[in-house]
Amino acid sequence: MNFQWPISEPDALQGAAKTSDPAQRGNDFAHRVVTWQLRAGRHDLPWQASANRDGVANPYHVWLSEIMLQQTQVATVVAYFQRFLEHFANVQALAKAEQSEVLAQWSGLGYYARARNLHRAAQQLVHDYGAAFPTTQAAWQALPGVGRSTAAAITSFCFGERAAILDGNVKRVLTRHFGVQGFPGEKKIETQLWQLAESLLPSANEMPAYTQGLMDLGATLCRRSKPLCGECPLRATCVAHRDGLTAQLPSPRPRMATPTRSATLLLPWQNGKVWLQRRPPNGLWGGLLAPLQLDAEDAQDAKIQAFLLRHHWQIGRQYALPSFRHAFTHFTLLAKVRVCEVLKPAPDAENAALGEWVDPYHLHNLPLPTPIRRMLHGLSRSVHCG
Ligand code: ADE
Repeated sequence: MNFQWPISEPDALQGAAKTSDPAQRGNDFAHRVVTWQLRAGRHDLPWQASANRDGVANPYHVWLSEIMLQQTQVATVVAYFQRFLEHFANVQALAKAEQSEVLAQWSGLGYYARARNLHRAAQQLVHDYGAAFPTTQAAWQALPGVGRSTAAAITSFCFGERAAILDGNVKRVLTRHFGVQGFPGEKKIETQLWQLAESLLPSANEMPAYTQGLMDLGATLCRRSKPLCGECPLRATCVAHRDGLTAQLPSPRPRMATPTRSATLLLPWQNGKVWLQRRPPNGLWGGLLAPLQLDAEDAQDAKIQAFLLRHHWQIGRQYALPSFRHAFTHFTLLAKVRVCEVLKPAPDAENAALGEWVDPYHLHNLPLPTPIRRMLHGLSRSVHCG
């Protein structure tokens, strides 16, 4: 790791920044982040509005927002966050809900494992803590779906715990500021970044503003492309700024070929509706509604018919829809799609635990994987399901 700190812009550096003592060095970094956050950071996010009379943030709100924000932008999360709270006002209400209700409120946000874990974690909190909230990073990290960084965000915001966050935005700030080379997703580099993040923490009372400040810096100034270095409180000591490396840092993931898997997705079709299977809770698209799937390279009509007959569906004519590709992290799905006219539905087609008849014109509140939603949306435009 390249620890050329402080770098050679001595007159831009002030006070503690000139020291080589790591504690003071860290404090100065944190001090500049905190001062900037209080002056120019975000203070009007809905999960920040729920502080009690002592200014302590509501852990349920902070936890929910952090889970939603793991893979989704703030601008999208705001409306979902508010709507979710209208349905599940507190952890007890969430714990008591059916998984399908929780997934319905998550519908459209994607990455549904987050919703399933949130629900299980709510049940654990009610069961193990009597619906109180733990106050340490270690305890939060033991809950489903709460990783080290999310746990730190929750406890630093709500309880001032001196725990470091390290999400994608913070990795970008740290790799640029300290000139850290190497892909941050690689174990060795990630370990170095965690150590660095922990060495920079301020005192407990500054933790909420510091944590929010790092997030805000990463999101608003230290952006992936076209960073606004001119406005950055860390500019004077930033290695990437000094060396013109903001476009190179953080280092990209080394390119790796992912395999392609082919599948045929089957849509039994009757009275303008298609039947979707509720996928088992774990695994790909767990708990979501998705077409029956035949894992075959190039399924012919007869093979499709036989497959559906094994699932107790009698079908007539078949219609091919356009194929699509969808990239998952570890493989690319190449999906062929067949609409199959139903002659006789499977006897358990009406069992809601197994699946549902879906009108492709009314997909709004259904828990659907994003590529399936897109495909059904296309179906509603291309086929007149009368
Ligand atoms: N991203 C993750 N957590 C966040 C937060 N609390 N505020 C803004 N963006 C975030």
